[in-house]
Amino acid sequence: MSENSITITDNRSGRSATAPIEHGVFPSAMVRELDKGLFMYDPAFLSTASCASSITDLDGANGILRYRGYPIEQLAEQSTFLEVAYLLIHGELPDKAEHEQWVHDITFHTYIHENIGSFMRGFNHDAHPMGMMVSVMAALSTFYPEAKDIDDTQNRLIQITRVIAKIPTIAAFTYRHSVGLPREYPVNHLDYTANFLRMMWAVADPNHEPDPVLAKALDVLLILHADHEQNCSTTTMRTVGSAQADPFIAVAAATCGLYGPLHGGANEQVINMLHEIGSIDEVPAYVERVKRGEVLLQGFGHRVYKNFDPRATIIKKTADEVFAVTGTNPLLDIALKLEEVALKDSYFIDRKLYPNVDFYSGLIYEAMGFPMDFFTVLFAIGRAPGWLAHWVELINDPEQKIYRPRQAYIGTEARDYVDIDAR
Ligand code: SDX
Repeated sequence: MSENSITITDNRSGRSATAPIEHGVFPSAMVRELDKGLFMYDPAFLSTASCASSITDLDGANGILRYRGYPIEQLAEQSTFLEVAYLLIHGELPDKAEHEQWVHDITFHTYIHENIGSFMRGFNHDAHPMGMMVSVMAALSTFYPEAKDIDDTQNRLIQITRVIAKIPTIAAFTYRHSVGLPREYPVNHLDYTANFLRMMWAVADPNHEPDPVLAKALDVLLILHADHEQNCSTTTMRTVGSAQADPFIAVAAATCGLYGPLHGGANEQVINMLHEIGSIDEVPAYVERVKRGEVLLQGFGHRVYKNFDPRATIIKKTADEVFAVTGTNPLLDIALKLEEVALKDSYFIDRKLYPNVDFYSGLIYEAMGFPMDFFTVLFAIGRAPGWLAHWVELINDPEQKIYRPRQAYIGTEARDYVDIDAR
C-alpha cells in the first residue's frame, strides 16, 4: 500500500477499499466498491473534483493562476486576449501563421444576423444587459442548427469562433439599445478589444478609435477573466455541455450562472456597496455591519484563494493606468480604505477574506464609462473562451458522461394520497 493512497473502511461491513491519491484527488469509485448504494455527501461541491482538466491551474494557498501552465502575470503583461483565447482552447500559444488565421477568422465572424437585431428591439430600454446577452446567445443556436453536431471537430471550431467573435458585438448592441443609439457595426481594421470599444462609444464618427491605453487595459482585464477552472459558470457550461447541448445554449446557460451576484455579478455589487458607503468616514461603520453578518463585503472572499487573488493584484496596477487617462474614480479612496481596514481585522483574516477579481474591476469599468449593469457583460466576454475550452475538454474526456449527481433523501417516507375533502 503506497503512502500516497487512501483507505476507506465501511464499519458496517468491515470491508475496506484503498485507492491512490493523484493530483490531490482520489476516485469516488472506491466508495461504490464498498457499497453501490453509498454516495459521498458534498453540498455545493466544497470537496469535489468534478473532472480532470489541463486548462487552468489554481493554487489558492499561494495565489497562483496559470493558463495552460503560463502564469497569469506573464500573459497579462505580454499576451493579448485573443492569443490567450487561442491558448485556452488549443492548449498551446499560436505560431505566427496560426495567430494570423485565428485573428482573421474571429474578425470575419463579428457580425450577427440582422433578425437578431430586430429581436433585440423587443427588450425594454432598461432591460438588464445580462438578460439580453443570455437571450441573444441562446437565440444564436436557432441561427446555427448545425452547431448541434458537437462531435465534428471542424464544426466545433466554427461555432467556437462565432461565439468569441460575436459576443462583443452582442454586448455592444445591448448597450446601444439601452441608450437608444443606433448600433455601431464591427469594423475589420481594429483589433478585437478596440473594435468592441468602438461599437460601444462611436457616435456620428466613422473614424472613431478608442484610447489605446483604455483598449489595452480592457484587453488585460479580459485576459484576467478568461478562465478560472471549475467556477460556478464553468461548471454550468460543463453540466449543460454534458447533455450534448450545442455550444450557444451551453454558453447561454453559463452566462446565467455568471449573472449571479455571488459570482460574476459581484463587480456590480461592489460599486453599489461603495456608493452605499458614500465616504471614507463611513467605512468603519460598514465593516461593523459586515461583521454583524448584516451585509457582505462585496468583492471579498473566494472559494479557492485564501490569501490573495493574483488577478486583483494585476487589476490594481491596471487601474492606475486607466485613471491616468480617465481621472481617478472617487470611489477608489473608499475601496482602498475598505481594503486597508478589512485586511487588518481578525474577522476577515480568520475567514481568509481578501479582495477578489471583482473588488477593483468595477472601479475601472466605471471610470471607463461603462454603466454598472454592464460590468458582468464584460466578465462574460472575458470568460467565453474559458467556457468553450472546458466544453471541448469535456467532449474529448472519455471519463466524462452526462452530469447526474445523486442526493441524500431526507424527505417524508411513503404515504397514501388523501382526498381533498379529507385533508
Ligand atoms: C467570482 O469560483 C471562482 O473562481 C469565481 C471567480 C471566477 O473567476 O470565476 O473567481 C469569480 O465569482 C469571485 C467571487 C465574487 N463574489 C463576491 O465577491 C461576493 C462576496 N463573496 C462571498 O459571497 C463569498 O466569499 C464567495 C461566494 C465568493 C465564496 O463563498 P464560500 O467559499 O462559499 O465561502 P463562505 O460563504 O462559506 O464564507 C466563509 C465565511 C462565512 O462566515 P462564517 O459563516 O464562517 O461565519 O466567510 C464569510 C461567510 O459568511 N464570508 C464573508 C464574505 N465572504 C465569505 N463575509 C463577509 N463578506 C464576504 N464577502
